[in-house]
Amino acid sequence: MPQIKVALIGVGNCASAFLQGLSYYGKATKSEEFVGLRNLTLAGYVPNDITVVAAFDVDERKVGLDISEAICAKPNNAPQVSHVPQTGVTVNKGTILDGVGESTKHIIQVSNKTDVDVVKILKESGAEIVINLLPSGAIKATEYYAKQAILAGCAFINTTPNFIASDPLWEKQFKEANLPLIGDDLIDQIGSTALHKTLLKLLSDSGVKITETYQLDVGGGAESVDTLARTRDAKRAIKTEAVASALPYKTQIVAGSTDYVDFLQNKRDSYFYIDGVYFCNTPLKIDLKFQTVDAPNAGSVLLDVVRAVKLALIKKQTGAIEAICAYGFKRPPKMTPIETAEEDFKHYTNA
Ligand SMILES: NC(=O)c1ccc[n+]([C@@H]2O[C@H](COP(=O)([O-])OP(=O)(O)OC[C@H]3O[C@@H](n4cnc5c(N)ncnc54)[C@H](O)[C@@H]3O)[C@@H](O)[C@H]2O)c1
Repeated sequence: MPQIKVALIGVGNCASAFLQGLSYYGKATKSEEFVGLRNLTLAGYVPNDITVVAAFDVDERKVGLDISEAICAKPNNAPQVSHVPQTGVTVNKGTILDGVGESTKHIIQVSNKTDVDVVKILKESGAEIVINLLPSGAIKATEYYAKQAILAGCAFINTTPNFIASDPLWEKQFKEANLPLIGDDLIDQIGSTALHKTLLKLLSDSGVKITETYQLDVGGGAESVDTLARTRDAKRAIKTEAVASALPYKTQIVAGSTDYVDFLQNKRDSYFYIDGVYFCNTPLKIDLKFQTVDAPNAGSVLLDVVRAVKLALIKKQTGAIEAICAYGFKRPPKMTPIETAEEDFKHYTNA
């Protein structure tokens, strides 16, 4: 199969997990070594068919380094699970805009190198797909890179919670440019939102009436600082809406990021509370803690999404591709129940 050439915007923790995943599964030969992937082969591609051909960041500890070294630079704290050999791809100095907020300016050390011409580098690298991995508060920067992707003729995957794929005006621009647009806000492989939705659906299908429920997260990556300061409300709205879609009736729901605890490093603790009634109004309560590591949780879904976007490019599909957005994102243009999203994605990638 021809390689799928991707460019990374932001060489933070998710980029680190993504690259380490490519190296980890690239070395695998026996079936048991592929454990942890949702799909080994998807649309005819294996993870090893994906190659990173360009990368952009603004932190001086990353700019100018080979991406294999940049992913290990501070403030990244994603676990090192697989050695990534030198790639020959150097991190370029991107355009900062609102990429660094008040709360993260003591965490990110901004490089004083000159900004590169992003479109030129994307074109020269042969990138077909741009993956936006900026901090969640980087609204202007996300829009800037979306525009650069259009100008360079690349599909755009928006992992941030900023409204790009779910904004009809952006969708129109990508449609007019004959390019796929995918987003918004990547779903975790084993995410608290999916777990919360599944629990609520299981209970509701069993006749339980949920009276109130919350799910609150505590994390230790730079992204948790950014979320806390800049996108807590937006994230909360996205997650709460996503969770609400699991129930056929309205109830009291709060779901979203809560706080930053530095010693957690890249770990994330999610707390669930569910209160309801079942037979003869008998009360039921669930209190649950779920611990994951953030960045690896983005890896498998991203590998699937990239391969599905390659398929969209081959099929010459444009604008927001519903089946991919609903499968891989918390805030797709059209909200779909988990099972339907899985079925539609399977159908899309097998067709
Ligand atoms: N499981 C997950 O980790 C997960 C799940 C869903 C969504 N996401 C989203 O993925 C995105 C990335 O998360 P992360 O944990 O890797 O964040 P991170 O903070 O570790 O990385 C962000 C990177 O972007 C760089 N950056 C900032 N401004 C820039 C600019 N203008 N140009 C280029 N680079 C710039 C930073 O220096 C940093 O290296 C976030 O928006 C997050 O919401 C992550």
